[in-house]
Formats: sequence, structure tokens, C-alpha cells
Amino acid sequence: MRLRRWIAAGAAAAATLAALTVTPATAGRPYDPTAQSLRDLAKRHGLYLGTAVDTAALADAADPRYRELAGSEFSTVTAENEMKWESLEPTRGTYNWAPADQLVAFATAHHQRVRGHVLVWHNQLPAWLTAGVADGSIGTTELRQILRDHITAVVTHFKGRIWQWDVVNEAVSDPWDTPATLHYKGFWAEHLGPGYVADAFRWARAADPKALLFYNDYNIEAFGSGNPANDKTQFVYEMARDLRAQGVPIDGIGSQGHLGTQYGNFDTFGVSEALKKFAGLGLATAFTEVDVRSQLTEGVRAGDSAEINPRLQASAANFSVLMRACLSSPHCLSFTLWGFTDKHSWVPGWFTDPPEGVATVYDENYRPKLAYQELKADLIYSGPPFVLPRVPQQPRR
Ligand code: G3I
Repeated sequence: MRLRRWIAAGAAAAATLAALTVTPATAGRPYDPTAQSLRDLAKRHGLYLGTAVDTAALADAADPRYRELAGSEFSTVTAENEMKWESLEPTRGTYNWAPADQLVAFATAHHQRVRGHVLVWHNQLPAWLTAGVADGSIGTTELRQILRDHITAVVTHFKGRIWQWDVVNEAVSDPWDTPATLHYKGFWAEHLGPGYVADAFRWARAADPKALLFYNDYNIEAFGSGNPANDKTQFVYEMARDLRAQGVPIDGIGSQGHLGTQYGNFDTFGVSEALKKFAGLGLATAFTEVDVRSQLTEGVRAGDSAEINPRLQASAANFSVLMRACLSSPHCLSFTLWGFTDKHSWVPGWFTDPPEGVATVYDENYRPKLAYQELKADLIYSGPPFVLPRVPQQPRR
């Protein structure tokens, strides 16, 4: 009797599960998950799968595959450069919205969300601003007002069209900087002091009450010593905790995820723990700029498979660590690649000595690499009880 009940219950459970997992077979063909796009596979989890977009490549009629893949494989986009201050306001008081607007229009046409990048950063500032501060013609009070005006103008312009804003980017030093003790670094901290971080979030919230407001940084994938003097993740954690305690409207932490196969790197559990600790503060998380670069040794450049294959495999493993960690935390809302093809990637232009590259999931001819397949596999072969649907984040007042 008991056995029969078990069998019946098992059959009912199997039927329910089957009903839940039934997916439409097109024209009589069975559903093949490996043929789905990254964005569709991520959707099963409520996860947004994104890419940074090089708008010159997007507009290049001779390179249609870039546009096709940007539109079909991803459910969120980030402007790689066009929402940065030097692009938006190259001349004081004159905004150039068109390139960023075009990307937002592309996103709308492809049913994509937009990550806004970036409101406050020490890089890619317009020359009129840095030169004005350097020659003393822009003083501290005016600089603070300029920052406030910039945040207000930009957030207002894109109001209602940005899902997540990177409000403050890379405000914290690294242990390899001088001095080695972690501190607030760069142009804004030097000229306004660390209080600019809280100000920036408040000004952004005032301009768009609905956008999610993120702090974004690299080298915060996992905790280290736990000492904020040398553990950047701990430093950022305490910063976020203090901002929350002061009622600053911060909604999330963006972990960039720029990895390299030449480093020791992380295991999934360590990265998962970091995401969950941030979630414990009531914050959403996101991977915002994922890529995994490798050194382009002579052998790699000569096409030596004994040199290339270990790098492709290590790259796939690292993408996968970040993806599985993201899946493990229901508050990890999006996973954004910093470019999707080696044809258009910031890495070779940036790391030249020694040369590095092959950092993305498609090669220069748009052939998907092992990393692409493994990201798909992670999205396919995951679900309850350890991978649960994403929990939407409500913007904090
Ligand atoms: O647009 C000019 C072009 O007119 C000129 O001919 C060319 C010659 O150098 O430069 C072009 O500008 C370059 C720009 O990218 C657009 O391609 C800049 O030199 C170059 O410095 C700039 O690099 C960007 C970098 O940020 C600058 O800080 C990368 O594309 C962009 O991927 C990178 O993105 C950052 C994130 O915003 C924050 N996190 C780190 C990440 C990687 O560094």
C-alpha cells in the first residue's frame, strides 16, 4: 500500500515537473536547449545576460554579425564608452547625447534593459574639467556643484530608460597601489574627499527614483584576509554597510569580473559567499564587466594548440565560476560581459607588455569558444533547490 502511494506520488511529481519544464517545440522539432541564446537560457532564472557595446562596431555596416549577436544573445546592454563624462560633455555645457541615445534605442528595439555606465569615475573625464581643476580656475565648491549638475543632467536625460546605474566606479585603491593601505583614490576623493560617494547616490536618486543605483568596482570578486586595510572586498563591504546605515540610497554592488588566466583566481564558493554577504546588507549584486584575458605568448600567436588550449579551458572555467556564483545568489540580477568578441575588446589595446587578449566568449570571427558553451551549460543544468529565481530589487528611498 505504502509502496503504491509512493509510486503514485512519484508519478504525480514527475508529471508536474514535466509540465513545468515543457518548452515549445518549434515545427515538430524537439526543444534543444543548446540551440537557445544566452539571454533565453538566462531568462529561465530571471537573470539578465548582458554585454558592453562598442557603438562604432554596432554602426558598422560591414560588420553585421556584431549587431546581430548584440541584439539576439543579450538581454541587457552597457555603453562601453558613450555614457562616460568625456563622451557626454566634451565641451563644458554642451552635451552630446546622440551616441548613447542610439544605444538606448537599439536596446528598446531588441527588448533589452540598459545598465548606465558611469556617473562618477576618475577616468575619461573631459579635459575642460581636469584642466580647470589643475590650473585652479575650478575650486572645490564649484567642482562639487559641477558634479551634482552632471549627475542630475545625465540621470534626468535617461530617466525611465536605465535599469541599473553605475553611480560611482572604482573609488577604492588596490593593495598594489601606493600607499598599500586601502583608501579612497583618484580625482574625486583627492578634490572632494570621500563624502562625494554618498552625495553622488543621493543626487542620482533625486533625479530618477526608479533606477537601481550601484557601486561598481574590480578586484572584489571574493573576500581575502577580512582586514579592510588590505582586503578590497572587505573595504567595499564596510563602505556599503556604512552607506546603508546612513540611509544613502544605494541598491547594489557591481563586481566587474575582469579576470586573467595567469592568476590564481577564485573558486565558485568563495565568489558565491561574497555575493551573498552583499545581499545580506539588503543589496542586489551583478557581474558588470566580465572577461577573462590571457597572455598572448609567441606560441599563442603562432597558433600552437598546446599553448592555446590550456588558455581556452582556463578561460571557460573562470567564466563559469562567476556564472555559477551568480546563479547561486538570487539577488545577483545580471551578468554582463565586457564585450563578446575578440574582434572588439579593450584588452589587447590596454595590456601590451606582455601582450594579452582572447578575453571574450567569441573569437575574432564570431565563432563561439569553449567559454560560451560552458556559460550555456551552467544556465541549462541548474535550477532548484540550489539555483532559485532572481528576487527583483526595489530602489531604496
Ligand atoms: O575614441 C578615440 C579615438 O578617436 C582615437 O582614435 C583612439 C586612439 O587611442 O582612442 C579612442 O578612445 C579610446 C576609447 O577607449 C574608445 O575606443 C581611448 O583611447 C581608450 O582609452 C578607451 O578605453 C576604454 C577604457 O575603459 C578607458 O578607461 C575602453 O574602451 C573601455 O572598455 C574601458 O572600460 C573600463 C570601464 O569603463 C570601467 N572598468 C574597467 C574597464 C576596462 O578598463
